[in-house]
Amino acid sequence: MPGMPRIFSGVQPTGELHIGNWLGAVRNLVHLQDTYESLICIVDLHAITGAFYEPAQHAGRTRDLAIGLLASGIDPDRATLFVQSHVPAHSELMWLLNAVTPVGELERMTQYKDKSAHLESIPAGLLNYPILMAADILLYRADLVPVGEDQVQHLELAREVTRRWNAAYGAGSAVLPEPQPLLTEAKRIIGLDGEAKMSKSKGNTIGILDSPEAIWQKLRPAKTDPARVTRKDPGRPEVCNIFDLHKYFSPPETVEQVAVNCRGALWGCLDCKRVLADNMAATLAPIRERAAVLAEAPGRVDEILAEGAERAGAIARETMATVHDRMGFLRAPAPPVQRRNVEPTAGP
Ligand code: TYM
Repeated sequence: MPGMPRIFSGVQPTGELHIGNWLGAVRNLVHLQDTYESLICIVDLHAITGAFYEPAQHAGRTRDLAIGLLASGIDPDRATLFVQSHVPAHSELMWLLNAVTPVGELERMTQYKDKSAHLESIPAGLLNYPILMAADILLYRADLVPVGEDQVQHLELAREVTRRWNAAYGAGSAVLPEPQPLLTEAKRIIGLDGEAKMSKSKGNTIGILDSPEAIWQKLRPAKTDPARVTRKDPGRPEVCNIFDLHKYFSPPETVEQVAVNCRGALWGCLDCKRVLADNMAATLAPIRERAAVLAEAPGRVDEILAEGAERAGAIARETMATVHDRMGFLRAPAPPVQRRNVEPTAGP
């Protein structure tokens, strides 16, 4: 815990946690919590800029994501799991970082360009999204940020913002450390369309809590090697997304067997998908079971999030005190001492 290098990562509560999130980031966070002081944040403030945001669903999705993360193996005794809006310093630091963030850099962000391309009126939150990410990370002075590849450009911007803030207010020293991304080999999981990154907005996902039947129904029509038109055509596993997914869910001997049977046209694509569906369902079964138990105890989940926010808030307050000092703000008055209304005890 304290003394260990620190990692921070965030996940948006946009609905289901899919296998792209799980393979690209969450599984890694579960492994890292033994060797790093880990802060894992459900970024509900980021989510309000997205297409899936609905006020009536927001709180429920936030808790459901907590359930998904806990069921995946995030352990509240080893990691700090909390909700972004429960630590108001995220929004405050973001405002302060606005002062050193060039608009031109924000406009270059690929995700901003993609998401704003079809909008008539672009909300400022979509443009400023990466500043909030920088604030998330810098608030905890995190050394490493485990993410998928799609977040790397945002992290480069966070590094740039850090350098600019340190140059303006650090008096020659790196008061805020430059965060480094931490990627895994599963840094870009392709969706079931076989083309785009797996993402909820593309509708090409498999949820980590999907039932075995739902997994199969989603995998059945998934794209494979386009050159394999009939069952007799030999396949090319190296260009097939289903083969790629086997590597994450099937044992090495099965992966080998899939490659041989695909190349030799001994299996059709449906045979290959059936084996993948079974192995995926088996891998995810313990997570589904734990999630079902947690869903019965929402009060306990909220307690875990409250404890997480308290721990995260303590670190955030330290950083904000430094940031306020460095930026020359007048110190805020100390909070008034709470007077307790105690009845005078009767004398002897
Ligand atoms: P989000 O919620 O879209 O995704 C959560 C994590 O999952 C990774 N990921 C993927 N990895 C591999 N293949 C995929 N198809 C795939 N899809 C998603 C993401 O890279 C991410 O690591 N902006 C962030 C959340 C965030 C954050 C932060 C992350 C807010 N503040 C600070 C790190 C640090 C996001 O929308 O992730």
